[in-house]
Amino acid sequence: MKAFFLISLTLITTSLFTTFSFSHEASEASVKTDLETYIVVVEKPDGLLESKLHDWYTTFLPEATSSLIPNQQRIVHSYHNVITGFAAKLTPQEAKAMELKEGFISARVERPVSLHTTFTPKFLGLQQNVGGWKSSHYGEGVIIGLIDTGIKHDHPSFFDKGMPPPPAKWRGRCDFNGKRTCNNKLVGARNFIWDGDAPVEAIPHARGTDLPWEEAYHGSHTSGIAAGCPVEGANVFGQANGTATGIAPRAHVAMYKACAVSCYDGDLLAAIDAAIDDGVDLLSISIGPESPFPFYYDVIALGAFRAIQKGIFVSCSAGNDGPYPSTVTNDAPWILTVGASTIDREIRATVKLGNNVELHGQSLFQPKDFHPRQPLPIVHPVICHMGQLRIEDKGKEVKDNGGAAMIVFNEQDDGYTTLATANVLPASHISYKDGLVLKNYLISTQSPTATISFQGTLIGKSQPAPQMASFSSRGPSTQSPGILKPDIVGPGLNILSAWGVSIDEATNPFNVISGTSMSCPHLSGVAALIKSAHPDWSPAAIKSAILTTAYTADLNGNPISTEQNVSATVFDRGSGHVHTLRALNPGLVYDIEPDDYIPYLCGLGYSEQQVRYIVQRKVNCSTPTLIPGAQLNYPTFSMVLGAGDQMTYTRTVTNVGRPFSTYISKVLSPQGVAVKVMPSVIRFKDLNDKASYTVTFTRLENVTRSSIIGQGSLVWNSIGDDGYKVVSTIAVVFV
Ligand SMILES: *[C@@H]1O[C@H](CO)[C@@H](O)[C@H](O)[C@H]1NC(C)=O
Ligand SMILES: *[C@@H]1O[C@H](CO)[C@@H](O)[C@H](O)[C@H]1NC(C)=O
Ligand SMILES: *[C@@H]1O[C@H](CO)[C@@H](O)[C@H](O)[C@H]1NC(C)=O
Ligand SMILES: *[C@@H]1O[C@H](CO)[C@@H](O)[C@H](O)[C@H]1NC(C)=O
Repeated sequence: MKAFFLISLTLITTSLFTTFSFSHEASEASVKTDLETYIVVVEKPDGLLESKLHDWYTTFLPEATSSLIPNQQRIVHSYHNVITGFAAKLTPQEAKAMELKEGFISARVERPVSLHTTFTPKFLGLQQNVGGWKSSHYGEGVIIGLIDTGIKHDHPSFFDKGMPPPPAKWRGRCDFNGKRTCNNKLVGARNFIWDGDAPVEAIPHARGTDLPWEEAYHGSHTSGIAAGCPVEGANVFGQANGTATGIAPRAHVAMYKACAVSCYDGDLLAAIDAAIDDGVDLLSISIGPESPFPFYYDVIALGAFRAIQKGIFVSCSAGNDGPYPSTVTNDAPWILTVGASTIDREIRATVKLGNNVELHGQSLFQPKDFHPRQPLPIVHPVICHMGQLRIEDKGKEVKDNGGAAMIVFNEQDDGYTTLATANVLPASHISYKDGLVLKNYLISTQSPTATISFQGTLIGKSQPAPQMASFSSRGPSTQSPGILKPDIVGPGLNILSAWGVSIDEATNPFNVISGTSMSCPHLSGVAALIKSAHPDWSPAAIKSAILTTAYTADLNGNPISTEQNVSATVFDRGSGHVHTLRALNPGLVYDIEPDDYIPYLCGLGYSEQQVRYIVQRKVNCSTPTLIPGAQLNYPTFSMVLGAGDQMTYTRTVTNVGRPFSTYISKVLSPQGVAVKVMPSVIRFKDLNDKASYTVTFTRLENVTRSSIIGQGSLVWNSIGDDGYKVVSTIAVVFV
């Protein structure tokens, strides 16, 4: 029967290519051998040379009596930057026995982690030879390290025409074998997925090949977004056609492969360790823990801390567990935590119902030969909830079952967020609201029919943009409520970028996919532009520039909305949407030195041992050096206010705009909170001068509040022609 199949969709759990979770594989395999990969942390003896670390690690291994695997193949990774320790294949008994050895701190089984563009530079205000790209030299001289699934090294997005060689400090390398080499665009490619020489059955979870080659089609996409060089005529099935360009097209790319079809945090740690050695300027990590962990347990937080201590900026995906509150991950304050929003491009597939009602959905696959003479009957088969399948796979299932076309509609929580996917049959993905219209039509008629009219790629006609993507993880942060997370949002829905294989038999493989995995490298690209324009800025200064210049109104001038088309809160969008041009020239920055995080970490209630584990040196958490989260010199304010609470915080701003400048404060108070800034005028004589102010937040009991969330902003406006506007977002939770 040729008919329409109707599929309901829970976007959050099913459709995102970019969410991986393969913990079961590991446990199945390990039953056979009893060996698992443990991350072992040890205490480095005073005076031990770095070159002797590995040999010393081997002394922790069990006596070589085990028949399972020889000792020289036990150690999977030897760490030295992020932690002092190693990853090794051990039985639980062997791991336990290690506890007795001197210098042992901890051992745990490594955990699974999840992997969490052409047109977007223009959406971010970047154009050839003008403005942001010109003043930031297109990111020249900056090396972006991506921790990901490998890279398709011969993709045209990674050709190096006109690229200068990497800076002399670069110590990275390329581990492709044979003639596969790197070039001046792709300056490094290494693999951290252990495959070793051990017999496969002895490997707890066999992890791909030993080459940094792309298998999972994620790393090429993220690399292309951050720093792909221009490729003309990039499209998929002719859609989203244009010149595909990374956000920092002259930045260098270094790939650290830590994931294949699965990801484990022991490999991730090794990849970050190596990237720090090699001399990357930025790390872009579109991977996250499966749920938020305290920072001392979270390898990305640990690795990122080591990175910022070396001046390396770290940008991470916020996670794809939205729209539910407190789902944000990668939420340490030394990380830029990036949520996902839409762009004003749509790849429209309009469903025309038998009653002439039109519903605008999306599909990347837009067959030119789909002109049914009659509208087709609609069937709503039992397979409407197909579990963990992507839309593309649902389509295959429908096609195999004789369906002629498919309509996929959202569940309520996904609202208006619709995906343009590479379907195998005529299809359209429509919103929840249009799904209701469709369902009403179904029950109102005996023989419902429909057809799809493919309208191609449309710009500026869709839903308000930017709008939050439903899957983008939300705040408040569970680990650190005194820091507003996510920090920022950027394009993450239906993004075209480089792909490992051609899905439409075109010469240049590209694909359109979605996730905070896609928004993160957009921000990594922006950070690379800022780094290129201001090579001496710290990671915290770069983050401050991005946060204080973000915008909060969509292209129609309304507040940025959620997937439900209602105003987004500060816990949905953080500071707002990145504004590239303004971020390059913010006027003032809120800077933070790595050691400033120590009193903050103590203030989280962590033990001195736990703080020491993060900052890699002895600390003293006694009262005078302990601060609440909101006292960190962060470019936003986040606090929990109980009845009668009054909080005073200090901030220090650094002048990076013009000498002899004056700034006046302007406050938009959260409803039910009085905000007082002292002093309210700040004057600078020179560049890089610092000035401090205090701000007091008082909960008012005589004002009725309409929400348990309060939001506002504290703005420093410069006097004169500069027009600097340095905005700190204020987030309050009333308890
Ligand atoms: C894509 O755009 C280019 C340049 O504008 C044009 O030459 C080419 O034919 C287009 N390709 C498709 C498939 O539309
Ligand atoms: C979404 O909200 C905007 C602004 O309030 C409104 O103009 C638009 O019609 C809404 N869209 C839908 C589909 O409801
Ligand atoms: C930590 O600092 C406090 C206050 O300065 C001091 O009294 C205490 O002895 C210090 N503790 C250690 C272990 O150094
Ligand atoms: C609420 O109380 C504050 C201080 O206690 C006062 O300044 C303000 O005017 C009061 N607002 C109203 C609406 O009464």
